[in-house]
Amino acid sequence: MKSSLLYLGLCILSLGSALPEPASNNQASANAVKRLVFDCADGQVGDTCLNMCYGAKCKRLGTTLTWDHPNYTNQGKRSRLAGCGSGNRCSKPPYGAGYQCDEFPFKSVKEAEKGNQVNRCVKRHYNSRQGGVLRQFYYSNGNFKGKGCDGKAPCKFSLSFKNFNKYGYCKKGGSCTNDGNEYTKAGPAKREEEVDASGYYRLGSGDVIYVPDGAAVGDLVYKAKFTNSNGTMIADVATPTDDDDEIDDDDEFDVEEDTIVEEVEDYE
Ligand SMILES: *[C@@H]1O[C@H](CO)[C@@H](O)[C@H](O)[C@H]1NC(C)=O
Ligand SMILES: *[C@@H]1O[C@H](CO)[C@@H](O)[C@H](O)[C@H]1NC(C)=O
Repeated sequence: MKSSLLYLGLCILSLGSALPEPASNNQASANAVKRLVFDCADGQVGDTCLNMCYGAKCKRLGTTLTWDHPNYTNQGKRSRLAGCGSGNRCSKPPYGAGYQCDEFPFKSVKEAEKGNQVNRCVKRHYNSRQGGVLRQFYYSNGNFKGKGCDGKAPCKFSLSFKNFNKYGYCKKGGSCTNDGNEYTKAGPAKREEEVDASGYYRLGSGDVIYVPDGAAVGDLVYKAKFTNSNGTMIADVATPTDDDDEIDDDDEFDVEEDTIVEEVEDYE
C-alpha cells in the first residue's frame, strides 16, 4: 500500500496542482487496503494467531494476500507444499485427535503457490474459526455482507491482530524463537533475518491493532469477534484430524468496521 500511496502522490504531482486536503484524503481511503483483524484474545481464534504472526513477521511472508478462488486440486497441492498434506505431523503424537494442520499463507490465497509456508498444529476448532472468517469474507456472506470480496477473485486483502499481548510473535520486537510448533514442509521453521517492520495502530474506536508489516492511516479494517467465547469446549471433543476447515454452523461472529487513525509508537 506504500507503493500505491506513492503512486497517488506522483499522480497528484504530475497534475501540477495539489488537490485540496479533504479530496486527497477521500481518494486515499478509497484506495486503502481491506484489512481483516483477527482477535487473539482467549476464546477467539487461539493458536492460529501465533501461526499467522510467525509466518507474517518471523518468516517475513507479509500480510498482504490474494484470494484466487482455487479449486480443490489446487488447494490440495498448496496444503502439501505447506507440509499439511494427508498424514501430516498434526495427526500424530504429541498432537493427534482434535488437532489440524494450520497453514500460512492460507491455501485459499495465491501467495501459497510460492511454497515456504509455515504450518502449526492447532485445535480443530480454532482452524475452523479462522477458515470461517475467511470464507465469509471471500463471499461477503453473513456479517461480511456488503464488505469483503463478494465472491470475485482475485481479491487482495491484508491481516492484522487485536488483543495480541500474550503472543510474542504478534509483538513489535517480540521474540521469533520457534516454540517447537512452527514448521515448514522441510522441518522445524527458522526465522528469517530480523528486520522488524511491524507496527501498532490506533483505530477510530480506540482499539489498537498489530500489523506485522506495517499499515497506513486510512486503512479500513474489519474486526471479527466470536460471540461464544467458550465454544471451544464443545467442539474440541473427539474430532477427525483431516484438513477441512469447515466452520461449525452455530459458531457465530460479529464483524465491526473501523479505520486506522494513527500509528502508535509503543503499546503494552
Ligand atoms: C484447478 O485449477 C488449476 C489452476 O488454475 C487448473 O490448472 C486445473 O485445470 C483445475 N482443475 C480442475 C479439476 O478444475
Ligand atoms: C460459557 O461460560 C460461561 C461462564 O463460564 C457459562 O455460564 C456458559 O454456560 C458457557 N457456555 C457454553 C456454551 O459452554
